[in-house]
Amino acid sequence: MNAHEYEVGLHKMEIDTPALLIDLLAMEKNLKTMSDFFKGKEARLRPHVKLHKATPILAHKQLEAGGTIGVTCAKLSEAETMAKAGIKDILIANQIVGARKIGRLVNLAMYSDVMVAVDSYTNITELSQAALSKGVQLRVLVEVNIGHNRCGVGPEKALEMARKVDASPGLRFMGLMGYDGHCTRCVDVVERETCSRKANQILAATKKKIEKSGLKVEIASGGGTYTYRYATQIGGVTEIQAGTYLLMDTTFRESGVTEFELTLTVLATVISRPVRDGVKNLAIIDLGRKAMHPYYGMPEVKDPEGAKVVGMSQEHGKVELEGEACDLKVGDKIELWVRDANDTINLYDKFYAIREDIVEAVWDIPARGFVT
Ligand SMILES: Cc1ncc(COP(=O)(O)O)c(C=O)c1O
Repeated sequence: MNAHEYEVGLHKMEIDTPALLIDLLAMEKNLKTMSDFFKGKEARLRPHVKLHKATPILAHKQLEAGGTIGVTCAKLSEAETMAKAGIKDILIANQIVGARKIGRLVNLAMYSDVMVAVDSYTNITELSQAALSKGVQLRVLVEVNIGHNRCGVGPEKALEMARKVDASPGLRFMGLMGYDGHCTRCVDVVERETCSRKANQILAATKKKIEKSGLKVEIASGGGTYTYRYATQIGGVTEIQAGTYLLMDTTFRESGVTEFELTLTVLATVISRPVRDGVKNLAIIDLGRKAMHPYYGMPEVKDPEGAKVVGMSQEHGKVELEGEACDLKVGDKIELWVRDANDTINLYDKFYAIREDIVEAVWDIPARGFVT
């Protein structure tokens, strides 16, 4: 029996803390909402698995839900993890640079259909030489800057780069990638829509221009959980890289993404109820910044009502209590919503998959902490 099997069947309040929990009923709703959305659409979903650090069972659930074409990764190590889990169609939505990584990439291309983004001629030459030396055909997308101002060539330079990829032995030009990440910062939902439409129109127009020159552009990949609705309305965009829709967090929810359920919580334990001058109704929990990422602020408490996190140090959380929450004792559990799913998941080795308060499964997060 592996250690996890002793935990299956526990009530969630019996789990040792801090622990990262997924509400399966809510997650299954999210899978259905997204696959229903893609029914009858020209574009397909290529879920971004950086959200859950390439957890195989979650990636397989996303692919099985329908409307999907493959997975998106941020890191080469995530792509390797996905290939090990039997997933073939993998996009690394990033530049893979340097001899060591390129060596790993072409090895990966020997047993998966990995695809990578480029935005520099030096990188294209290095990829081509490495692919040739291994005898593989590496699939390549030219990344276009559609306003996010991170990676990517200007749209006016994409045709020349596409030609270079097409002419490079060992490489197969598949199309374009352009991420409308700058639109996620729009607080107003109408502004976000305008921003995303404009960005994805640039991607679609660039695709058209390259096709006119005679090159085949099979893929135009972009979008995310904030913008999939708008990006899919732009003819020519062939796939969407949304990830957070699966598990969600309170930051996405508060920024207007309301069609998906919150699924992720962290369970913590009250380790102290300090009694000293000037301190009233305070609990200290075993949850600090190493167990809940604070980038977007303090997490909200799901249960009990009346508890509010007012500070987090590395290993401790300070919780102010009101009403019923004042009854919390040392040893009691408290459950908190995750404010930043991507960064918090990266802090954990495993997910507890919970159905109606009972542990149904424990899933390892194999690529957690993989930074290369
Ligand atoms: C390249 C790329 N594509 C897509 C996404 C969208 O992910 P999400 O759906 O989690 O917002 C991101 C998020 O950072 C990204 O960097």
